[in-house]
Amino acid sequence: MELIFGTHNQNKVEEINTLLPDHYRLWSLTELGHETEIEETGSSLEENALIKVRAIHNIYGKNTFADDSGLEVSALKGAPGVYSARYAGIQKNAQHNMDKLLNELKGIKNRQAQFRTVIALIFNKQEYLFEGIVKGNISIMAEGQNGFGYDPIFIPENQLLSFAQMSLSEKNKISHRSRAFEKLVEFLKS
Ligand code: IMP
Repeated sequence: MELIFGTHNQNKVEEINTLLPDHYRLWSLTELGHETEIEETGSSLEENALIKVRAIHNIYGKNTFADDSGLEVSALKGAPGVYSARYAGIQKNAQHNMDKLLNELKGIKNRQAQFRTVIALIFNKQEYLFEGIVKGNISIMAEGQNGFGYDPIFIPENQLLSFAQMSLSEKNKISHRSRAFEKLVEFLKS
């Protein structure tokens, strides 16, 4: 069965491809030659995931899913959340985003945070949402070279290392995205 993943990110495509049952043929936006950018104008992860999945489904008419993720910091009332990629500006610079966040949390004891992924799926014209969360804490300083985004300053619950100090496979065992993908795959298998 054909299924479209509304992303150009090849790493995400490979990650989910390894989890999907064999009879699914996954198409990424790159493979479909889809170049028009879909504006993420929603004010929540759920809204953005739905905006993306509806736009793509309208064009191609096949079963489709799209994801949106963000870092939610308790002391900042859930910020940067849906604005995680552009927290320090539209350049979407990961280093600037981390610097801004560490600055906002200077002197604040409560460092609790969570990464959250929402996947929106349109399957046989019905809409579904799946959520994955990993809880943790924002460290005092960045550590580690792996991963991307806020990985160097996020230490998952019950772990000593930041996401950026873990290998990709270690991160994938507990990450928000893997947890949301697993729920999606469970649904698709059922
Ligand atoms: P996206 O929806 O997967 O593109 O994620 C939006 C933004 O959230 C990214 O640009 C990062 O700033 C942040 N983010 C999401 N997932 C992760 C992660 O696994 N590690 C670090 N940052 C992440």
